[in-house]
Amino acid sequence: MQETQRSADVLSEEGSNSAKRRIMSGMRPTGRLHIGHLFGALGQWAQFCKTDEAFFEVADLHALTTAFEHPEQIRHNVVELVLDWLAAGVDPARSAIYVQSHVPEISRLQVLLSMIVPVAWLQRVPTFKDQIEQLGGEIATYGFLGYPLMQLCDIAIVRANTVPVGKDQLSHLEFGREVVRRFNHLYGPTLVEPHGTLSEFPDVDGTDGRKMHKSYGNTIDIADDDRTTEKKVRSMVTDPQKIRRNDPGRPEICPVFSLHELVNGPRVPWIEEHCRSGALGCVDCKSELAERLNASLRPVRERRASLDAAQVDEILADGAQKVRAIAVETLADVQTAMKI
Ligand code: TRP
Repeated sequence: MQETQRSADVLSEEGSNSAKRRIMSGMRPTGRLHIGHLFGALGQWAQFCKTDEAFFEVADLHALTTAFEHPEQIRHNVVELVLDWLAAGVDPARSAIYVQSHVPEISRLQVLLSMIVPVAWLQRVPTFKDQIEQLGGEIATYGFLGYPLMQLCDIAIVRANTVPVGKDQLSHLEFGREVVRRFNHLYGPTLVEPHGTLSEFPDVDGTDGRKMHKSYGNTIDIADDDRTTEKKVRSMVTDPQKIRRNDPGRPEICPVFSLHELVNGPRVPWIEEHCRSGALGCVDCKSELAERLNASLRPVRERRASLDAAQVDEILADGAQKVRAIAVETLADVQTAMKI
């Protein structure tokens, strides 16, 4: 108990504070993030830094489960990802920002926990089947099968109780909780059962009207410049029934309007009314959106541009150190419980 208390203090200047949740989340370094990430997950992450103990991991080993044939992009993507996080206001002084592979205790925990995980539990996780259907049998590796277990180890190694994730990750958390329960049942209470929390934000529409997603090529990126944003907004699909300027539009099905709702606060009712009446044409509506988007992204982009790779390295070294202080304790507890 003493031990756990000591580790809890690593991140909180005020000393132990039991009201704080311990938050852990991560992303795979697969490229630049878009405004869906910014207004959804990252906005929340920046808040957690102020209110909770927070751990944010760049999951490079998870990236390797699918990119093992082309690993050369991963390192570059790690830096890009952290720059996006920092630009969005994730505060390295009030959280731990680190790379998964810099914390070897995660992988050691994975070997130990793998002993008690029935293969059938992993095979029935829905993302496993879906990904194999999408990407082919090539990725049906031992490492990929273990993806949700590795994710649990990310969470369990820091004894996080709260894990903010997207809907698609809830099955991984459910799996993780089952593993924790099995462990604690076999060896006595050792690991913390983590709970998932969903982002309050709905999915953001992409430029083509589908959900904004990197693999659809319909994103507006945090790191885009003003002109690129403008071009992307100009190319956006709108209500197909609104052909000429004075045609009435249906904002509820228009992705341009849905982005206005995200960034154009007080002007939204005016835009809705004038789109519906036909008074507002799509060209003007898009110009205003591009302007608003660029204005609200400006501070984020400026912060991003003011940071360099050397600063990122420093932040990551510091983050790994903070996490490892806790990770070695968790691993020791697990080894003791497993009599090894
Ligand atoms: N699997 C998550 C995703 O693809 C990323 C991730 C890795 C993660 N480790 C995690 C998320 C731990 C939450 C907690 O989005």
